[in-house]
Amino acid sequence: MSRREESGLVTAGRGLWITLEGGDGSGKTTQARLLAEWLGAEGRTVLHTREPGGSEVGRLIRDIVLHHRGDIAPRAEALLYAADRAHHVATVVRPALERGEVVIQDRYLDSSVAYQGAGRVLDAGQVRELSIWAAEGALPDLTVLLDIDPEAARRRLDADDKPFDRLEAEKDDFHRRVRDAYLRLADAELERFLVIDGALAPDLIADRIRARVRALLEH
Ligand code: TYD
Repeated sequence: MSRREESGLVTAGRGLWITLEGGDGSGKTTQARLLAEWLGAEGRTVLHTREPGGSEVGRLIRDIVLHHRGDIAPRAEALLYAADRAHHVATVVRPALERGEVVIQDRYLDSSVAYQGAGRVLDAGQVRELSIWAAEGALPDLTVLLDIDPEAARRRLDADDKPFDRLEAEKDDFHRRVRDAYLRLADAELERFLVIDGALAPDLIADRIRARVRALLEH
């Protein structure tokens, strides 16, 4: 039984849902794009989306959580990400899966557990429950975790020359907690997660992701 059947949200045999996770600067966005291009070339209908900000309402929420000047209380931040998720899953992800499409999504609930749970030190179980409630139990078929040392990721972001958003600007210790939390999540759900060393060459990473996705599509 697939995870989406377990969740009772999406019926089996329709669509495939892949999420990408990792710290800031781990290279997820590049990999999401490469995967979407490959699947498109294979003749699949692909929806490439992201959280926060994968819907119109979500774009407003994204602006608050990433660019508000000044503090946002940790629980308020967790609720904002959960609100974005609830609307995104209901209006964008679920309809695409029901149409049989492949959804490639930059970040999902594991981001909340890692960033708001371990990063902001909220109760990880409660943060996860909040997201599960928001998304009516929906879990992806595959979650690719690009694991990278926060200092190496920071050097990549510095080289990018873009101003840091609220989360990126957090201290190294915050990003170390996020990384450890991701690895614990992957250990707890070995079947859903594919963990790849984010320091590898982008082509190698893309090959590994394709191999797993090909297997899922043939299943
Ligand atoms: P993202 O747009 O993926 O930024 P980047 O491309 O730099 O990784 O995510 C924006 C930020 O939001 C990122 O720092 C992680 C954070 N975030 C959370 O803290 N909780 C969440 O639930 C999500 C989805 C993202």
